[in-house]
Amino acid sequence: MAGPDRWHRWLLEVRFGGDAAAREKDLAEFLYPVRDAVLDRARLEPGQTLLDVGTGDGLIAFGALERLGPSGRVIFSDISQDLLDHCRAAASAEGLLDRCRFVLAPADQLTAVPDASVDAVTTRSVLIYVKDKARAMREFFRVLRPGGRASLFEPVNVLMSDPGPGLFHGYDVTPVKALAARVQALYVSIQPPGADPMVDFDDRDLVRHAQDAGFSEISLELRVSVKNRKDPVPWERFLRMSGNPLQPTFQEALQQALSTQEAGELARHLRPLVESGTGLERTALAYLTAVKG
Ligand SMILES: C[S@@+](CC[C@H](N)C(=O)[O-])C[C@H]1O[C@@H](n2cnc3c(N)ncnc32)[C@H](O)[C@@H]1O
Repeated sequence: MAGPDRWHRWLLEVRFGGDAAAREKDLAEFLYPVRDAVLDRARLEPGQTLLDVGTGDGLIAFGALERLGPSGRVIFSDISQDLLDHCRAAASAEGLLDRCRFVLAPADQLTAVPDASVDAVTTRSVLIYVKDKARAMREFFRVLRPGGRASLFEPVNVLMSDPGPGLFHGYDVTPVKALAARVQALYVSIQPPGADPMVDFDDRDLVRHAQDAGFSEISLELRVSVKNRKDPVPWERFLRMSGNPLQPTFQEALQQALSTQEAGELARHLRPLVESGTGLERTALAYLTAVKG
């Protein structure tokens, strides 16, 4: 048995290092506030239909069901059948199935969703995985009714990559920088800057794609934050985590890029920094709202 796909594995386990308390903290401090901001910007009215693209485990979609009231409907779409099955089971357990539809489709090919059939389209951290973002934006425009809103949240990774060669995940690795560079090179080989969908766009591209798709009113808020502290993370959990679903866990990356002795040397330097939160946290997050005139 192969087990669930990488998207399911990452969303339900790897992003929190398999730690339920870390999941609760992330939900309370980051994910629920983002969900609420995305849904506020979608300006939903009771009884409307929302399409959540790249729905994952349904963060935005289940929030929308609550806001739309008993006659509102939500289309969960994703490229991961495992995540759609997960959402379907959760919706069934809540008695919500009759208000839900599940569509297996990439964001740039939403063929199963008819033209002008939904009132709102949402994404959270989805376009970052889509190569043809312009086409995805045209699909969002196509499926929206006149007056419909797209409300998107996307990290803008090119604005928040580590600024110096001595930094690794924001931790100062100057004394072991040659080893850290080899692990970094592994990440770069998997997601080459400028070519990988995650690092081939910035906030201006998002606005341009929305404009080219035909949206009549577009607004983008960019939130950039730099903090000279990170959340402390227990080392064993850090080893089980990865920055995104396409990357190996830190432990796998160490094993692939370094010998056992080298991995031990890097870990000895990094561990106290990770466990004490001594590092630089940089984020760049965009909220884009676009109205179909
Ligand atoms: C970081 S997760 C975000 C999940 C969810 N939107 C949330 O807010 O928690 C990215 C999601 O995008 C989906 N995805 C990846 N590539 C996609 C594509 N080309 N089209 C549609 N969905 C995609 C993944 O399966 C995953 O569910």
